[in-house]
Amino acid sequence: MNKSIADLHKKLEAEKNIHTDFKNKMTYGEYLSLDSILSSQKRLSGHHDEMLFIIIHQVSELWMKLVLHELTAAIQAIEAGEMQSAFKMLARVTKIQSQIIQAWDVLSTMTPAEYLEFRDSLGQASGFQSYQYRLIEFALGYKTSHILKIYEKDQKVHETLKQAFDAPSIYDVAIKSLARAGFSINPDLLTRDYSETYGGDPTVAAAWEEVYRDVNKYWDLYQLAEKLVDVEDWLQQWRFRHAKTVERIIGFKVGTGGSSGVNYLKQVLDHRFFPELWDLRTKL
Ligand code: HEM
Repeated sequence: MNKSIADLHKKLEAEKNIHTDFKNKMTYGEYLSLDSILSSQKRLSGHHDEMLFIIIHQVSELWMKLVLHELTAAIQAIEAGEMQSAFKMLARVTKIQSQIIQAWDVLSTMTPAEYLEFRDSLGQASGFQSYQYRLIEFALGYKTSHILKIYEKDQKVHETLKQAFDAPSIYDVAIKSLARAGFSINPDLLTRDYSETYGGDPTVAAAWEEVYRDVNKYWDLYQLAEKLVDVEDWLQQWRFRHAKTVERIIGFKVGTGGSSGVNYLKQVLDHRFFPELWDLRTKL
C-alpha cells in the first residue's frame, strides 16, 4: 500500500470515537431515504448516457422543491411585512438557480447521437409536464392553465396546482407592500383575480419609480425589488440555457411533449414576470 494511504488508514483507526455500531440507531442513509432516492434511476433503454439524462432531471426537480419551499415562505414573509426573512430566502433561491444553470454544462456533454440512442424510450414524457416548474411559474405570477389538465388524473397534484394557480404571486404581495407603505395603488389590484397573469399598472409603475428615486427612504422596498429582479433574471437565464442546450442536442426537431421544440422554448424568453421593475430602468 502506498505510504500516504497507509498513514491515512492509521489516522482513521486512531479515531476511536467514529461510530460504527448502528444496530439500534439511525444511519445517514436512513435519514436521507437514500435507498429510495438511489434506486430511482431506471434506464428504459439501458443506454449509458440515459443515466446522465435521468439524474440531471432528478437533481433539477430536487432543487425546484427547495426553490418552492423558499418562495412559498418568502411570499408569506412579505405579506407579514417580515422583509429581512424574505430577503434571506430570496437570496437562497438565486443561489439555487445558479446551481441548476450549471447543470446545463454537464448535460451539454451529451451529443445528439447519444441522445437519439434512447430518445424514443421517453415516449411523450417531457419537462413540459413538470408540475414543480409550473408551481414556480405560478408563485412568480405566470399563470398558464394547460398544465392543470395534464394532472386531472392525479387529484393531489391537481389540487396543489389549482391552489397555487388561484393564489397571489410574490409580485402581488410586493404590490400590497407598496400600498401598505402609503403609495397610491389602484385598489382593484389588491383584490384582483389572481388566476390571471398580472399585466402591469401605471400606479405600480409610479410607485416603484419613486422607490428607486429615493432608495434610502424606501430601502426595504428597493431591496425587495432588486431581489425580485435577481430571481427573474436567473430564471430567464435558465430558460435561455435550456433552449440553447436543446438546440445543440435536437436542433429544431419537435419536442417529445408535442411542442414545436426550440421555437416554443424561445417564446417564453420574452415574458416578463415583474414588468414595471424592468420598465423603470429605461425611465430612470
Ligand atoms: C436532452 C435534454 C433536453 C431536451 C432535448 C429537452 C427538450 C425540451 C423541449 C423540446 C421542450 C418543449 C416541450 C416539448 O415539446 O417537449 C422542453 C420543455 C421543458 N423542459 Fe426540457 N429538455 C431537456 C432537458 C431538460 C432538463 C434537464 C430539464 C430540467 C428539469 C428540463 C425541463 C423542462 C421544462 C420545465 C420544460 C417546460 C418549459 C416551458 O413550458 O416553458 N428539460 N424540453
